[in-house]
Amino acid sequence: MMKAISYSAYGGADVLEYGERPDPKVGPDSVLVKVRAAAVNPVDWKAREGYLQSQLEAVFPVIPGWDVSGVVVQPGIAVDEFAVGDEVIGYVREDFLSRGTFAEYVAAPVRTLARKPLNLSFEEAAGLPLAGLTAYQVLHRWLRIQEGETVLVHAAAGGVGSLAVQLARHAGARVIGTAGEHNHDHVRQLGGEPVAYGEGLADRIRALAPDGVDAAFDTVGGEALRASADVLKPGGRLTSITDGEVFSYGGRYAFVRPDATDLAQLGALAEQGVVSVHVDRIFPLEQAADAYRLNEEGRTRGKIVVTIPWDG
Ligand SMILES: NC(=O)c1ccc[n+]([C@@H]2O[C@H](COP(=O)([O-])OP(=O)(O)OC[C@H]3O[C@@H](n4cnc5c(N)ncnc54)[C@H](OP(=O)(O)O)[C@@H]3O)[C@@H](O)[C@H]2O)c1
Repeated sequence: MMKAISYSAYGGADVLEYGERPDPKVGPDSVLVKVRAAAVNPVDWKAREGYLQSQLEAVFPVIPGWDVSGVVVQPGIAVDEFAVGDEVIGYVREDFLSRGTFAEYVAAPVRTLARKPLNLSFEEAAGLPLAGLTAYQVLHRWLRIQEGETVLVHAAAGGVGSLAVQLARHAGARVIGTAGEHNHDHVRQLGGEPVAYGEGLADRIRALAPDGVDAAFDTVGGEALRASADVLKPGGRLTSITDGEVFSYGGRYAFVRPDATDLAQLGALAEQGVVSVHVDRIFPLEQAADAYRLNEEGRTRGKIVVTIPWDG
């Protein structure tokens, strides 16, 4: 048996329980990862509250969490990509909810994994996969940003936004990022030009980019999405990861996919110092419910991470 966080019915953070769960079985093309750290993502609590019921079946009790950093302790019988002792990161999403990363061990299909960047701590590394892959895939696959373009990134201090700002800058784009005033210096450090969200947002963006923006990455929805559509140049590209209304503006909706090649590329960019992960707060696994409550407030800078004591 292993220690894990789990829930047996949809609901708020109070349904989360810390206790014992059976060790996961390791499929032929999976590896058993001893978890060092797991990052909180808003999708975890949205799924827990039942918002994804129509898309993802929940096999209760569900262990939440899709982000992980840890150490391989047992490769599946048909795995030669990883060996015992390898340090890895993963966006361990399957098409149902059950065996997440908020546990001492997770069985992770190799398609969800890459080598852990050597220069990142386990806490930083755990924050990279889901948010980093989302930023990477939206910027390069969906928006197809080009050098010299102006890109609008919403929630530029958040998990996805902060990585998107850094990746877009690395691709040679100019980046305008929305954030609260308290985060403006942080957004500048990431390489973006901060703009306050709220009433008058489109006017403030136009003051910075009078001809409009070439591409907009919506991570907030609602007003942010409307303002994005408003400031797009003719022929500009719009992608949302959070609001299906994007289709009515001629944009597209993206959902991040596990992809070992993309994850390895992201890891390499982290090792080159192109992207860094800001760890906002660290909680022990037992306090995962508090970690989720904090993220649900919507003010996370970078990532919130839970850690598991390491006994070697
Ligand atoms: N479809 C997908 O594949 C996918 C993948 C990843 C995430 N998502 C979704 O994308 C959203 C963002 O995810 P995340 O992990 O980046 O969340 P997060 O880290 O929890 O976002 C927190 C940030 O949002 C900022 N924020 C809050 N309200 C804002 C507003 N009105 N305008 C601009 N910024 C605002 C906050 O900045 P201040 O403190 O400065 O207000 C804070 O830094 C979530 O809804 C998540 O579920 C979807």
